[in-house]
Amino acid sequence: MSSQSRRPVVHMLEQFAKSDPLSFHVPGHKNGNLTGLPEAVRGMMSWDVTELPGLDDLHAPEGPIREAQELLAAAYGAHRSFFLINGSTAGNLAMILAACRPGDRVIVQRNAHKSIFNGLVLAGARPVYVDPAWDAETRSPGHAEAELIREAIEMYPEAKAVILTNPTYYGKVSPHLSNIADICHDAGIPLLVDEAHGAHFRIGAPFPEPSLAQGADVVVQSAHKTLPAMTMASFLHVAHGSLLDAQRIDYYLGMLQSSSPSYPMMASLDDARHYIATFTEEDVKAFLDYRKTLIMGLDEVKGLSVIRPDDPLKLLLRADGHSGNSLAEALAHQGVHTELSDPYQTLLVLPLLKKGQDVHLGETLAAAARAVKSLGPGKEAKELDEPFSQPAVTAADGPPAVQPGNSTEWIDFRESEGRLSAASVIPYPPGIPLLLPEEPITREKIRTLHHYLAAGTAFQGTHRLHIQQILVSRQSPEA
Ligand SMILES: Cc1ncc(COP(=O)(O)O)c(C=O)c1O
Repeated sequence: MSSQSRRPVVHMLEQFAKSDPLSFHVPGHKNGNLTGLPEAVRGMMSWDVTELPGLDDLHAPEGPIREAQELLAAAYGAHRSFFLINGSTAGNLAMILAACRPGDRVIVQRNAHKSIFNGLVLAGARPVYVDPAWDAETRSPGHAEAELIREAIEMYPEAKAVILTNPTYYGKVSPHLSNIADICHDAGIPLLVDEAHGAHFRIGAPFPEPSLAQGADVVVQSAHKTLPAMTMASFLHVAHGSLLDAQRIDYYLGMLQSSSPSYPMMASLDDARHYIATFTEEDVKAFLDYRKTLIMGLDEVKGLSVIRPDDPLKLLLRADGHSGNSLAEALAHQGVHTELSDPYQTLLVLPLLKKGQDVHLGETLAAAARAVKSLGPGKEAKELDEPFSQPAVTAADGPPAVQPGNSTEWIDFRESEGRLSAASVIPYPPGIPLLLPEEPITREKIRTLHHYLAAGTAFQGTHRLHIQQILVSRQSPEA
C-alpha cells in the first residue's frame, strides 16, 4: 500500500469507535448517546472525541495526526503542512500575523477576502493596495498585473509580505503568478497566497498549476470548497525554502485555532488528502467526460449560455435577458442549488468526481431546461459594469479597521477630498472596494464614485450614498 493510500486519522478513529468505549470525558454527548439529533448525525458523533491517550493532539502532534499532516505535505510538495479546523480564515490570519508587526507595510490585492483584511487589522499592519484588472470573460475582478506589484515593491521596499488571491471565486487564475513570485523573492519579500478555491489544483493538468509550484511561500486552501471535506476543513502549506518561518505560523495557529479541535473534521481532512492524492488519470477522464456531457446538454437549453473559466471545476451560466440572481432562483426552484450569483450570471462548482461516481447528470439537465423555460422572455440583461478607474497602487494610513463611536462622522462624499475613509464602500458589480478604512480619499476616488452613482450601481459596505454620504475619520481639532 503506497503511503498516500493510508488515512492515519481515519484509521485511528475507526479503531477507537470499534472498541465500544465508555465516555467519562468531554464532549458531553457521550459518543452520541445523549443527543436528540437524528441517527445519521448520532452515528458520526462516535468519532467526535477528544485528546484521549492514543488519539494524539493537533496542537502537539506526535502520532497519527502528525503522520497525516506529513502525508499532506508530501502530497502537495510542501515543506510543512497544517490541518486547519477553523477554515482558511484561520490560515489567512495566521500567515499575516506571522509575517508582520504593528505598523509594517504589507502589499495586498484590493479584492481580497475579509479574512485578509481582518488579519491586517489584528496584525496592525498598514496595507498598500494593488488593484486587480477587470476580467471581461467572467465579468468579475481578476488579478493584479506583475508590473503593478513591481511598482508597489519599488514604492514600499520595506514591505513584509505580498498577499494575493489565486484563483478567484469565479475560477480565473493569475497568468502572472510565477513572475510575481520572482519579483517578490528578488526583493526578499514572501509571497502569501489565499488559494481557498484551489485545493484541487494538485491534480495537475487540465487543472491550473498550484500557487505553491509557482513559487508562493505560504498557501492557504479551503479543502471544504472543492475537495470532499466537511465545511471549515482547510489546509495551510509552507513551501520548501519559504521566506516565512513555519514555526511562526505554527505559533499563531496555536492561538487562533480551537483548543478542542474537531476529530471528525480532522478525519475529513485526512480523507480529502487521500482523495486528491489518489486521483488517477482515469478519474480525470471520468470527470472531463462528465463535464463535457454537462456542458453539451446545457448548451442545448435555448436561452442559456455556458462560460468556462480557467478552472475546469467551475462553470458560469447566463440566461438571455435575465440576471444571474433570477436564474439562480429559478434553478433552486427546480432543486439545483448554485454557489453564487450576480447581475450577470450564476456560478456552478462541479463535483470533483472519480470514476464510477454518480452525478445525476440527466436530472440536472432536465431541471436546468425547466428553470430556463420558467423564466420566459426577460429584459433584465445588464450592461457590463467595468470599473471606472484604472488599476493603481494606493497606500492606507493604518490597518483597515472601522473606527467605532466618536472617532467618525458622516459627510457629503463630494466634500471628502483629503479625508480618511472610515469604512468600506464597494460598488457591486464590479465588487472591487473603492474605499477601505484608513484610506485617503482622493479627487480621483470622488470622481469614480460620481460615475458609479450616475450609472445606478448598487453599493456594499457601510455608506449612506442614497443621501450622498460616506463615513470618514473625524479630524483632530488642530487639523
Ligand atoms: C478567497 C477566499 N478566501 C478565504 C475564504 C475563507 O475561507 P473559509 O470559509 O474556509 O474560512 C473564502 C471563503 O469564501 C474565500 O472565498
